[in-house]
Amino acid sequence: MFDKLKEQPKDKILHLSSLFRADERPTKIDLGVGVYKNADGITPIMRSVKAAEQTLWQAENTKTYTSLPGQADFHRVMHELVLGDEIDPARVAYCATPGGTGAVHHIVELIAQNSPDATVWFSNPTWGNHLTISKHVGAKPAQYRYFDDETCTVDFEAMKGDLSKIKSGDVVCLHGCCHNPTGANLTQAQWHEISDLLSNKGAIPFIDIAYQGFGDGLVEDAFGTRLLAQNFENMFIAASCSKNFGIYRERTGIVMALCKHAEQKTLVQGNLNHLNRQNFSFPPDHGASVVTLILRDPELKKMWEDELSEMRVSMLDIREKFAAALNREAGSNRFGFIAEHRGMFSRLGATEEMVEKLRLNQGIYMISDSRVNIAGITEDKIDTIAKACIDIGM
Ligand code: LMR
Repeated sequence: MFDKLKEQPKDKILHLSSLFRADERPTKIDLGVGVYKNADGITPIMRSVKAAEQTLWQAENTKTYTSLPGQADFHRVMHELVLGDEIDPARVAYCATPGGTGAVHHIVELIAQNSPDATVWFSNPTWGNHLTISKHVGAKPAQYRYFDDETCTVDFEAMKGDLSKIKSGDVVCLHGCCHNPTGANLTQAQWHEISDLLSNKGAIPFIDIAYQGFGDGLVEDAFGTRLLAQNFENMFIAASCSKNFGIYRERTGIVMALCKHAEQKTLVQGNLNHLNRQNFSFPPDHGASVVTLILRDPELKKMWEDELSEMRVSMLDIREKFAAALNREAGSNRFGFIAEHRGMFSRLGATEEMVEKLRLNQGIYMISDSRVNIAGITEDKIDTIAKACIDIGM
């Protein structure tokens, strides 16, 4: 049987990381995988996380199983973080998952098993795993146009055009904020239009929110999610704590499913529990407990919010400086979009050949679609990277 296994396609992002690790050039620069790095180029453990871990280590007195969908306290704090206080928790089914990826997996699996005819619409482009996981679980993914490669901004007319052709019962995935891979986001007015459009079409929204707090702020970044939650009876949310708590390897995420009423919630909750049980049984709990401690304790919460805004402000600063350096090198204003984008990523609009040359000749690693991790650009490297980009023909 082992000999019959098929070789699996390489994940673009993870493959690039392994090429980077194998590169022995000391000057190499990693703008690939979406992991936050500080001014020294390292991914630190946040002080609030360390403090919560210390408390947890002292207070935790059992390692017995948590409940199947994770701890109710974690559900509650995540509800408040993502949805604020407008939505009644009695309407929401929750399920802690291994990372935001686990949440995406559950949502598309639930769709595949229960609405096999529904198409799951993702933006073009989107995070590659959206499409591959959907296919893996037997869902029907398709894509709507989203990004204008010329202007590197949202192609809103094209997006609306494609979404106006979907059928009732289809599911539409929207990045809650900080679009991955482009960095181009909907305005508040555009969120309103999309909400109306999806509602008229009878679609079910599916929000993937993995970077809350990395764009304009915790509340600002939740604008679209909260708007849709108010306007729809049914909706899926996949939320991740990997980035905004910096607990990547703790695998901390959650599914929230908005239901019409408490009775429907009971049914949905049972199905989410079942997905956990059949896929891996109980969800990991360490990260969820850390997040709960932080969000429950006013001092720790304040510390975390301050750290998060430091990270956000530093990425915004790098955006401004990188855009200015590229404009200077190019002798034009065409890179201003980088300062307008939000979150960890910007798609620069270079060809695959250019990206490959940058990697081979300069040791600068970006994803082949020219997505760069803004947090990977340290201040001392801005000019080098900008010059290399323009020299290569960008
Ligand atoms: C990314 O897009 O780089 C991150 O979400 C990490 C990943 O798992 O792909």
